[in-house]
Amino acid sequence: MTKSALITGITGQDGAYLAKLLLGKGYAVFGLNARRSSDNLWRLRELGIDNDVQMIDGDLADLSSIIRAFQASKADEVYNLGAQSFVGTSWTQPLLTANVTGVGAANVLEAVRLVNPDARFYQASTSEMFGLIQAERQNENTPFYPRSPYGVAKLYAHWLTVNYRESFKLHASSGILFNHESPLRGIEFVTRKVTDAVARIKLGKQKELRLGNIDAKRDWGFAGDYVEAMWLMLQQDKPDDYVIATGKTTTVREMCEIAFNHVGLNINDHLVIDPAFFRPAEVDILLGDPAKANAKLGWTAKTQLEQLIVMMVEADITRVSKA
Ligand code: NAP
Ligand code: GDD
Repeated sequence: MTKSALITGITGQDGAYLAKLLLGKGYAVFGLNARRSSDNLWRLRELGIDNDVQMIDGDLADLSSIIRAFQASKADEVYNLGAQSFVGTSWTQPLLTANVTGVGAANVLEAVRLVNPDARFYQASTSEMFGLIQAERQNENTPFYPRSPYGVAKLYAHWLTVNYRESFKLHASSGILFNHESPLRGIEFVTRKVTDAVARIKLGKQKELRLGNIDAKRDWGFAGDYVEAMWLMLQQDKPDDYVIATGKTTTVREMCEIAFNHVGLNINDHLVIDPAFFRPAEVDILLGDPAKANAKLGWTAKTQLEQLIVMMVEADITRVSKA
């Protein structure tokens, strides 16, 4: 029998890759689409699946719309990927972030509980919850210490997922995903900001790249690898929480150097440090320990950072050349 999945955040980076993965496995894929004035279907178009997914109007802040979407899709699996996901914006829009990123997850969990508690639920938790890290390598047992309104909202959603699992026996799992990127990454995130700028500088359309804290370190992987882990979590007999990471950490500066070097440019000729991009509180370093996901899901990150950044630079060169 054809399985059905409902994805919130289907128009985002992960939503698009996950939709493609599930379509390839024969799922009927439905997406909750918060209609906005601008075109938000470009990622689905780039993957060639915009006509294969079924969009349902709805917003994470509106429980009734989620219930309707869940009823219409008859989903066996619900992936809650929708969020105000940009950490920087969470200081300027903390209440919206709480509503969408935090309470939004409560709305989806309530819809599952009320409409079909046998459906399986995935929550997009994050390494941002570790924030001011309490262990050198973060795993499922590392205490949380979020450093942004986004991290705090995600922590609420994470614990609510655990709580609904324990209270109502829902098959509810959380993926604590470390940073993952791709050519479909939003332009505001640092990797894509860098690869887009490198493409523009190389093609003579921009001169400088302005960044904030380039000493920050992140455990960066490829989004295409990470959505497989989401699906694997919902195929397990028992729901659980898993850290998904590469197990390597790199500074923002080193990541930039990979991008500039790839096109034969010298980073020092173009990089400007701009205080406007520093954050009120920073997550200095993240380094995940994916041992549990390796052992229980058989999952490992396949793509190396260098490959990933080169893939992103090449995609941006193609885009900028066509524009
Ligand atoms: P993204 O590209 O920013 O996508 C966010 C999605 O949420 C978009 O589809 C967006 O719709 C949707 N959305 C925003 N507000 C909404 C609302 N009020 N109602 C319904 N949908 C709404 O994020 P991503 O990188 O794919 O990440 C997916 C999820 O994983 C997010 O929850 C993120 O916080 C989490 N996460 C990401 C990473 C990472 O490194 N990428 C790591 C850990 C966890 P529009 O397209 O219409 O704006
Ligand atoms: N965005 C951005 N822009 N970040 C910059 C800049 C800049 O100009 N300059 C330095 N950085 C630093 C940030 O201060 C941060 O330390 C690091 O680059 C990464 O920033 P982002 O790419 O914006 O990602 P993030 O780590 O804050 O959050 C992402 O990963 C989380 C998982 O750890 C997002 O995808 C979150 O949604 C996700 O939960």
